[in-house]
This record gives sequence, structure tokens and C-alpha cells, in this order.
Amino acid sequence: MSGDARKTAEGLTYLSGFGNEHSSEAVPGALPEGRNSPQRAPLGLYAEQLSGSAFTEPRAHNRRSWLYRIRPSAAHPAFSRMDNGAIRTAPFTESVPDPNRLRWNPLPEPAPGTDFLAGLWTLGGNGDATQRTGMAVHLYHANSSMDRVFSDADGELLIVPERGGLLLHTEFGMLHVEPAHVALIPRGVRFRVELLDASARGYVCENYGAPFHLPDLGPIGANGLANARDFKAPVAAYDDTEGPVEVVNKFCGNLWRATYDHTPLDVVAWHGNHVPYVYDLRRFNVIGTISYDHPDPSIFTVLTSPSDTPGLAGVDFVVFAPRWLVGEDTFRPPYFHRNVMSEYMGLVEGAYDAKAEGFVPGGGSLHNMMSAHGPDRETFDRASAAELKPQKIDDGLAFMFETRWPVTLTPQAADADHLQRRYDDVWQGMERHFRPLQ
Ligand SMILES: [Fe+2]
Repeated sequence: MSGDARKTAEGLTYLSGFGNEHSSEAVPGALPEGRNSPQRAPLGLYAEQLSGSAFTEPRAHNRRSWLYRIRPSAAHPAFSRMDNGAIRTAPFTESVPDPNRLRWNPLPEPAPGTDFLAGLWTLGGNGDATQRTGMAVHLYHANSSMDRVFSDADGELLIVPERGGLLLHTEFGMLHVEPAHVALIPRGVRFRVELLDASARGYVCENYGAPFHLPDLGPIGANGLANARDFKAPVAAYDDTEGPVEVVNKFCGNLWRATYDHTPLDVVAWHGNHVPYVYDLRRFNVIGTISYDHPDPSIFTVLTSPSDTPGLAGVDFVVFAPRWLVGEDTFRPPYFHRNVMSEYMGLVEGAYDAKAEGFVPGGGSLHNMMSAHGPDRETFDRASAAELKPQKIDDGLAFMFETRWPVTLTPQAADADHLQRRYDDVWQGMERHFRPLQ
């Protein structure tokens, strides 16, 4: 962390738009005109394609970028296995899936010198990384910048900071991420994380499945929810460092490392749509009722990873952002429910309107499929008796990774000291109000 890094972060410029073709060059003339792989790429650069989808996927789903770099990615020595730390990968088979409602406090303080990668701690997940299905929920708690480079062949990484700013140095350029922002690092893209504050804490959804994209809007129309232009891609910025650099590759659940003789963050120009993004969740256009009841929380979907079944997501990223509540004759907090999908929730700041206490920033809850949950007793009592005036919820930012499969815990999550052992108690003492004859 340094003042220079923060100055760099705050001075960054970006390219606007999600999923469309972007292009950028850090040096004028570095990007070839009219062809992707000319006989000799400009300025003595190497041309290289990075595919995020199969070559033959429909154009609407096809993702690839062309990188023009100082050395080709192929120029590296062999990788060898290293310790996986607290990172685990699907299939998650060490525990049986747990039907209980579960909630955790934030991760404990890390040891000094813990960087983003060493600070990653897997809570659980589903699917199978080798089959490119499912997802994992990770948390991170770091107090040191990475002096190594990481890439994840198993999936894309949706980083949700809760505490501390990050400067992400990616192959495509730099992204500045703060709490209330999210960053999306596509599968296989190399990056390192520089901390802008003394420590950093947050959440990561590792999506093994189809890449996240913006949800269709149906009758909502052409605008609303997360607007494409609010997603910011970096401009090209290359690192020309020579000398030993450790590069860590997560591949089929294991970490592998190699020592390069140069940094692989050496891309001078690029074009394509398989690119990293940052998005400010405060830009989310929140849509809700203006009459009665409230829509299902799918109305708060920021990004969705589709499956082969229309409308059934491998994982959705959903945000509960500041909004007005105006519904008449309506129980306004989230209703009691049992959901065929499984819900991991986290809190970036403030409070969440379904819980009076215990759901804290940096913590999280898991409500696996068909588990009964909803407002705690205190919230139910208060909301049932509240005078229904227009009310602004403006002190909280919660989110959900909602997935079609149950989330199986890692043993470290199931046995964690920071697991709340008495979460069920929030629904104890729900009074019997039923009176058949009134
Ligand atoms: Fe729920």
C-alpha cells in the first residue's frame, strides 16, 4: 500500500460498456489495424488470442480477446504444485450438504504478510470445476499486496470488497475497486492485487459455469437494473519488469506455480470482449413495487450465469441496495420463504432489512435449498406493526450469490470458530397469533 498507488487508482480512466468489443493501446500504434494476427505485429509485439468461450459458440455468447504483448504467454517454465492454502474447489465432497440455516462472523485477522491469494478462504460451493459447472463462495482477508501474479483457469472471479480498497493490476490494465464496487476477472486472466489500505476484506464468487452477463429485462424494457455503460473496463497499461516473478495458476482445484523471468502483465495493447470490469453497485437502478407486495429478489439481479435451462441460473449475483419502500398494506421486509435455489448472503455495509442483529459486514449466511428463512422475530414484529409511510432504506448494502445447486461446506467453514452456533434462535419464540374465531 502506498500513497502513490492510491493516486494511481484515483486517476484511472476506463472504457464504458459490458460485453461489447473494446480496444485499447498503451503505446500509439501498438494495436494492429484491420487484422488480428498480422505477419509482424506492430512495435515488435507478439499477438495472442485469449478465448473465454469455445470458438464456435453463438456470437451473442462468444468471448475472446486479442492481446499484443512483449512476450507470448507461452514463454514460461514448467509449473509445479504448491500448497493450496485455504482454497478449495468443487466438487466439494469432504462434508455432506447441510440443510441447516447457517451464519458466520467475519474471517479472523490474518497473519502479517498475507496477500490476497494467501488470504482466500473457501466457504463451500457446488458443481464441478473440471466440468465447468457450479460455483464456489470464498472470503478473503489480506494485509499485504501481492508481489506475485495469479490466474484462475477454473472460473471467473467476482470480487466483492467489504473493507479496504484494491488496485487490480490485470493483463488488460488497472482497475480500482472499493467497497460497494465489484470487480469481475474473467477466467484465465492474470492479475495481482495491490492493497490501498492497511488491510482488505471481502467476498469472491468463483463461477465455474457460463460467464456472467447482464440479465434480460423483459417487460422492464431497454433500461434498468445494472446499466451496461456503468461497467468499466481498463485501458491498456503494461508492466515491463524483467527478473523473477512468481506466477500462480489455479487449475482443476490446485495451485501451481512457476517462476517467470519477466512479468506476464506485459500487454501493451488489446481488443476484445473477454475483459475485466469494475462496477459501482450504487449505480444499480433498483426497481420495486409502487403498489403492493414486492417483487421476488430476482428483480435485484446484477449479473447472471445462465445454465442450459432458460431462466435457471448457475449463479446469480443479486444486490440489496438503498431504495424506497412504498408498498401499501405490505409486509415490507423480505417475506418468509423456502427457495429451490440456495442463497449465500453477505453484507458490505450497514444493516439488512430482514435481520435485526447478527448479520454483520464481512459475515455471511447460507440458506440452502428449501430451508425455511426470512425475517427474524424482532423484524417480523416491528414490520407487522409499522405505520406504512414511504420509507428510504439507505444504510445498507447486502448481496446474494444465489445458485441452482445446494452449497456444500468445506470442513473449515463447517467447523469454523466464527460460525454462529445459535443462528436458529433468531426464529425462536415466534408467537402464535392464530385465532379461528374473531
Ligand atoms: Fe432468502
